[in-house]
Amino acid sequence: MITMKNSLFILFIISTIIVVNSQGTCRFAPSFTLQEIISSSNQSFIDNVLFWEGNFHSNQVGVNYKCGYTYDGHALNYTTGELAQPLHEFSAPSKESIHLGMLALALNEWVNEEAENYRAINFFHQNITRTNEEQNEIPYSGNSNFDNVITILYRKINTYNQFNQRYPGFGGFHPWVSVNDSGLFLLDGWTDQVPGLDNGEMIWGLYAVYNLLTTEQTFIENYPTLGILYEKYFQLLVDNAMMIFYQPSGYISAVVTINDVYATPTPNNYQSPSGLLNDPYEGELLVVFMDLFCQWPSEEARDQIWINKRELLQSVEFDTTTNGTITVQRGWWFSSHEQWKYLMLPYQEIEINQRVFRNGERARTWFSSINQYPGLFASVTNISEPNQNNGYVSATGISEIAFQQQLTNALVTPYGSFPLFLIDDQPSLGLSWYYTMLIGPSMQNQFGSTESVNIIGTEIAPVITWDSKITTVLSMLGGISNINLQFLKSNGLFERFSTVIDREWSLAFPNLNGENLPFMYPTQDVTIPKILNDFTNCS
Ligand SMILES: *[C@@H]1O[C@H](CO)[C@@H](O)[C@H](O)[C@H]1NC(C)=O
Ligand SMILES: *[C@@H]1O[C@H](CO)[C@@H](O)[C@H](O)[C@H]1NC(C)=O
Ligand SMILES: *[C@@H]1O[C@H](CO)[C@@H](O)[C@H](O)[C@H]1NC(C)=O
Ligand SMILES: *[C@@H]1O[C@H](CO)[C@@H](O)[C@H](O)[C@H]1NC(C)=O
Ligand SMILES: *[C@@H]1O[C@H](CO)[C@@H](O)[C@H](O)[C@H]1NC(C)=O
Ligand SMILES: *[C@@H]1O[C@H](CO)[C@@H](O)[C@H](O)[C@H]1NC(C)=O
Repeated sequence: MITMKNSLFILFIISTIIVVNSQGTCRFAPSFTLQEIISSSNQSFIDNVLFWEGNFHSNQVGVNYKCGYTYDGHALNYTTGELAQPLHEFSAPSKESIHLGMLALALNEWVNEEAENYRAINFFHQNITRTNEEQNEIPYSGNSNFDNVITILYRKINTYNQFNQRYPGFGGFHPWVSVNDSGLFLLDGWTDQVPGLDNGEMIWGLYAVYNLLTTEQTFIENYPTLGILYEKYFQLLVDNAMMIFYQPSGYISAVVTINDVYATPTPNNYQSPSGLLNDPYEGELLVVFMDLFCQWPSEEARDQIWINKRELLQSVEFDTTTNGTITVQRGWWFSSHEQWKYLMLPYQEIEINQRVFRNGERARTWFSSINQYPGLFASVTNISEPNQNNGYVSATGISEIAFQQQLTNALVTPYGSFPLFLIDDQPSLGLSWYYTMLIGPSMQNQFGSTESVNIIGTEIAPVITWDSKITTVLSMLGGISNINLQFLKSNGLFERFSTVIDREWSLAFPNLNGENLPFMYPTQDVTIPKILNDFTNCS
């Protein structure tokens, strides 16, 4: 008996070591079954996801290590799955939002979790070598992954400040930018314009990061300047937001033109606002920020923004065809991208908003289920044949519950599943759909998941990006809404947020159908045919 116990024990140790050290193959999805994902094997699957997606967080792939800023993404060789030209030498604050979100989760784990529960921290496993100056100034933590988190945070905020010094006219807000070792530069098409939506996404990542760094004793002691730098940058945005984005008629601008990007912000430096940020989707992140932090001419002016947003906050019925209707919030395309705000802010704390969110995601699963689609839909790079580029597909989603019509449902993307990870009483729902797309041909590579695949299994988009990959990683780890909830509460701001969201969603959704219907799970019978081969470098 004793001998057997011992050998079992040794076997156990060996298998543990193998799992921890080798992480097996990048093509790990087919070694799990859908049934295992739904019933139990989810944690080891998620650990694999974090390890391989973590390879995207490496120099000249998803990040420029020198300046700590994101790159939008990188192309892959269609056959091998290895990196191929071009690196996307540009980025936007939306990518920073995801990056800051992951960094905030890592900071939060450092103070609240035992080492064996580290997930976000272990995403940052690609080492960053500290400069001599950094070695002298930043203490080592004893965990090299966490040291990577801290190093990148220092470099990132220095780059933000340098950008603001170089182009003060942006008021600290970032346009789409060109990125290289010397930091951020102007990008064609965005040399004198600044977008509101992407900055709103970034801001809530900044909020989580600076609050963690300035309230946790261990961070204050070990990295005394870091939190202050982030807080000051946040304050810069607070100081300039109204001047740049507010329209006294009661709207927030979507994009604003800057007369002189080298001039210190003054009101007459901003003109020709184009578009309104009055959507009830991710554009709302800037609106909430301005509502909570900025100086308003009056309470009426502050509320007028929300009143003017009502037009696009609409209730619509999704028809299941067999089991009645589900009341949802009308989408623009009903692309999952539109749910970004649920990664960032505690909307689900407001009961009516949570019920509407859940119904929307319920409908998303019914739509794919009844149409036998092997995946979910979100705006993404289009599929193509090798050596071609068919652009970006914004218009994908669910036509019948969207403002826009004629949407394509020919291609799916893993990040179509990200909102489902935020449905907390369905722990396997998001992963089961994610898995269904990952087992598609060439949908895994050395850097984790691939951008998109068509449902007939003949073509992919050979590219890896923050949007299509790391939104879902952030979501698998719960997003940062809980962190921001904690700080909104301690900063006395949650009440206002809750009041506004409750008022607006209650008004638009007096009645919800379909709440008793189940969420639909993918089935083994509906899969992406393996017409295309897997990447030779990941099969
Ligand atoms: C992909 O890599 C293979 C093998 O190195 C090479 O022969 C092929 O030209 C590459 N294809 C593209 C589209 O770059
Ligand atoms: C990163 O550095 C740590 C500490 O030096 C080392 O243990 C680890 O193996 C390195 N990781 C990689 C991927 O090289
Ligand atoms: C980065 O790009 C800017 C603007 O194009 C250029 O002036 C600078 O030399 C570049 N830096 C590096 C290290 O390539
Ligand atoms: C849909 O309705 C049918 C007929 O009432 C019922 O048998 C079935 O269980 C329902 N499906 C779901 C998923 O609730
Ligand atoms: C995406 O690319 C395919 C060809 O690979 C093309 O048929 C389709 O029209 C493109 N879709 C959009 C929306 O551009
Ligand atoms: C994995 O699935 C089980 C069973 O559904 C569930 O209890 C558990 O919370 C899930 N774990 C994760 C990390 O999703």
